[in-house]
Amino acid sequence: MSAGLRSRDWFGPRDVNGFAARSWMKNQGLPPRMFDGRPVIGICNTWSELTPCNAHLRDLAEHVKRGVYEAGGFPVEFPVMSLGETLLRPTSMLFRNLVSMDVEESIRANPLDGVVLLCGCDKTTPALLMGAASCDLPALVVSGGPMLTGRFRGRQLGSGTAVFAMSEEVRAGRMPAAGFAEAESCMSRSAGHCNTMGTASTMAALVEALGMGLPGNAAIPAVDSRRRVLAQDAGVRIVQMVHEDLRMSRVLTRAAFENAIRANAAIGGSTNAVIHLLALAGRAEVPLELADFDRLGHDVPLFTDLLPSGRFLMEDFFEAGGMPAVLRAMGDLLDGSALTVTGRTLGENIAGAPCWNPEVIREVKPAAGIAVLRGNLAPDGAVIKPSAASPELLRHRGRAVVFDSVEELADRIDDPDLDVDETSVLVLRGAGPRGYPGMPEVGNLPLPKRLLAKGITDMVRISDARMSGTAYGTVVLHVAPESAAGGPLALVRTGDFIELDVPGRRLHLDLGDDELAARRAAWSPPPPVVDGGYQRLYVDHVQQADRGADLDILTGRRGAVVRRDNH
Ligand code: FES
Ligand code: MG
Repeated sequence: MSAGLRSRDWFGPRDVNGFAARSWMKNQGLPPRMFDGRPVIGICNTWSELTPCNAHLRDLAEHVKRGVYEAGGFPVEFPVMSLGETLLRPTSMLFRNLVSMDVEESIRANPLDGVVLLCGCDKTTPALLMGAASCDLPALVVSGGPMLTGRFRGRQLGSGTAVFAMSEEVRAGRMPAAGFAEAESCMSRSAGHCNTMGTASTMAALVEALGMGLPGNAAIPAVDSRRRVLAQDAGVRIVQMVHEDLRMSRVLTRAAFENAIRANAAIGGSTNAVIHLLALAGRAEVPLELADFDRLGHDVPLFTDLLPSGRFLMEDFFEAGGMPAVLRAMGDLLDGSALTVTGRTLGENIAGAPCWNPEVIREVKPAAGIAVLRGNLAPDGAVIKPSAASPELLRHRGRAVVFDSVEELADRIDDPDLDVDETSVLVLRGAGPRGYPGMPEVGNLPLPKRLLAKGITDMVRISDARMSGTAYGTVVLHVAPESAAGGPLALVRTGDFIELDVPGRRLHLDLGDDELAARRAAWSPPPPVVDGGYQRLYVDHVQQADRGADLDILTGRRGAVVRRDNH
């Protein structure tokens, strides 16, 4: 038995409080030996039938428990608010910080010595990591795993990406509506999260790169028996981590974040990872800034051929060797000395990791990372994924066509009278953290139907929003400060000229300082979009995208000490 476990403060004393702590727990059928000083392991579960990607996590929790018992620990599963991409409005991102608060307070307020974080759908991974990092107990992530490859009449369907493609076929009359309806069941045919390299798969992969999960965490399909074995192994390991006092702060170092930034480039990962890693670094008190993503990641090659940018899906990725194979292929691009939850270094974890299919895991193209742009239109930065953009648009000067909101965009984009051509630059504002609120995934603005009909497939688009991990195009995202916070994006007018220069890392509004100052003097902030509740707290405290859109009151490590008793 370990001395000094924080759970002993609850379960150890032979007084009224100790009696209460033990007695009520015993109503669940727990034998007295569970309170003998063994590590108490929380299993933080984002299971919900409203988060279909995580709907199988109660089963997975049972396998974590087996491992905890096997290693002599006492597992206790607890729920936190869950976040599903497909149902939540106005956007799941609005609630990432709320869930992180739920996680942090649930861990600290309870007699836990270590935590296993059960994650899956996009926001559940950063939310749980952020909350746990602020407490800094030993913690380990088990991801739910991706869905099996979607199959429909002989073709392969990738989550998200296939929906966009098929809906175009329906509009063009090439696919009957009945087939489209049937494809719904075929695309999502098993438990698990999106099977493309969207945000969920990206974050599960970065869990491995950060050293926060067991090797193999990202790619094992949700329904594969080996996912359950990984969960049981995680249960064993978290008990050992408590004995070793292997806290999150020993894993989440600057080296771990640098590895994650480079790994994100290597997998062609989601732009959303930029925001989530910045927010997590803020919790872990690791200095990290937006410029680091460009400086460390931009010249890292793409090592995976996965949708949305490539051909294969997560099931293929698993069979090809998964993240250990990618991390090994990255070689010297990684700091192999970073400590991980296994108690070994990242380099030791991946030594000898085999690649079984060089079609899926190989050097696909050079320099796949994210570029960070600056200029008078984005003084605090903006991001673009050059590998997902059209090469001929990476240097472009065009006339702005401005939309103040997503509603105005929807109303006007297909208006035959809209003065727009393929050289125009589409600008959307009011979609940042504070303005929307919650910074939704609307940054890949639809192109005007009239131009689509002409065969135009890409245009420069600029916004203070995010975009889905499954989307692509010459799309400038996360402009900071956002328009609702008075960023220069608020001052652009239709007809102004904007210069995008990705090689020069520049985003410039062709206006003199005097004109900008005059417009700023005439600008007034938009009226508040919320009147109370959590959304009020969010709008009042959310930081800009370059700070990870975390609440200012939540940054930092507050530890797990509780100074007062409850009775
Ligand atoms: Fe949940 Fe894509 S909708 S991971
Ligand atoms: Mg998404």
